[in-house]
Amino acid sequence: MRSFLIAFAVLAGCANAAPTDDVAEQVGERYITIGTDALPTLRATADTAAVIETTGDFAVVAVDAQDLEALSEEMHEHHHRCGGFMVHDTLDDALSVQRDGRKPIEYTLDRSAAVRAALPSIREDAILGTIRELSAMQNRYYQSATGAAASEWLRDRWLSFTDRKDVTVELFDQGYAQKSVILTIPGTTRPDEVVVLGGHLDSIAIGARNSHAPGADDDASGIATLTEIARVLLAKDYRPARTIKLIAYAAEEVGLRGSLAVVKEFKKRKINVVGALQLDMTNYQGSDRDIWLMKDFTDAAQNAFLIQLLDTYVGATWGYDACGYACSDHASWTRAGVPASMPFESRMNERNQVIHTKKDTLEMSNENASHAVKFARLGAAYAIEMGKGELAAPAADVAASTDDSGWRLLVGGIAGVLALAGVALVRRISRDSAWG
Ligand code: BES
Ligand code: ZN
Repeated sequence: MRSFLIAFAVLAGCANAAPTDDVAEQVGERYITIGTDALPTLRATADTAAVIETTGDFAVVAVDAQDLEALSEEMHEHHHRCGGFMVHDTLDDALSVQRDGRKPIEYTLDRSAAVRAALPSIREDAILGTIRELSAMQNRYYQSATGAAASEWLRDRWLSFTDRKDVTVELFDQGYAQKSVILTIPGTTRPDEVVVLGGHLDSIAIGARNSHAPGADDDASGIATLTEIARVLLAKDYRPARTIKLIAYAAEEVGLRGSLAVVKEFKKRKINVVGALQLDMTNYQGSDRDIWLMKDFTDAAQNAFLIQLLDTYVGATWGYDACGYACSDHASWTRAGVPASMPFESRMNERNQVIHTKKDTLEMSNENASHAVKFARLGAAYAIEMGKGELAAPAADVAASTDDSGWRLLVGGIAGVLALAGVALVRRISRDSAWG
């Protein structure tokens, strides 16, 4: 790849600018990346300037090489920048530099009403139920029939959470029996910016591929946590500004293959993922603090944002630790230049020792999901503060939204029975008084 920062040392104040090739003296089409604020200057200077793609504050533009020297002078004159744009030999180079060099997003906490309205609906028993169902399957191995069935089961479960036509749940085929499952809540005002929350659906029993591999912790816990986040966001009729995608990756245990395929496909489709959160093992409390942020293969700024979310909304204790290798699907996003994080259930050296065996069951978590609840709260807060937007269910309806429908039915039923009993009593009294 050949890309040049264009600057001319002869320009005042640009003595330290990068030396240039003779590219500006050539003719023919070139591709530049330039700040969108400088597009008027570019248009006034270059005879032809075709904007190909704009991402955030930067644009990729096709220009004629002979205009580059004049552009550099105008940039210096009007924007006080030495060069201020990059020249690339091919469009592919320009687009990949544009994406890899994109500005990190701003991390803000300004959706506290929505977060605080959503978090109380997170239910431990719902998470526990999902772990039970997933770990009861023979295994969720990426090449097995039961691994394939797990994808369909999860798709149907996620589909059951809403009637909304804009929300989709798809199976993503990457050539294995098991498919990744992708739930999408499209963004209202910034749909092209995508926030990903993920975990891996597959399980494995090392050395015994057809045997029972419950994977209750690794990673039914993460999938159950994601499932609860999906249920609550949709019960609250969440309408994010950015697009939210929840992804259950297939084939993690065999070399992150599922997430690598998803990342590749997203890159091909030019999907701009602004942040990724990985939930892999959330329900084994092995250490004195609750949540451990893995520092390696993750993004420091997004990790700091997660700590803000933990302190503001979750109230869980946390620490930093490291995997020491690309231990889960967050590494696939990091490799692609996407800020990714991996909040983990314990210190690495106090980790659950029975994963990848038939002993990875709920027994290791005392048959409850109280640890995973903290990750569900963190994940829901992450989705809402990254996604922005609002819960569309009006405040009065929020308490009575679908996730509380069981209570509504019960209360409604009791009220109905009491009403009928009252009517019967009144009739009886009036009959008694009429005939008594
Ligand atoms: N959930 C584990 C990763 C993990 C295990 C993180 C223990 C922290 C503590 C994941 O499913 C896994 O098993 N990853 C593989 C590596 C992957 C590239 C196949 C592993 O750790 O061996
Ligand atoms: Zn594993």
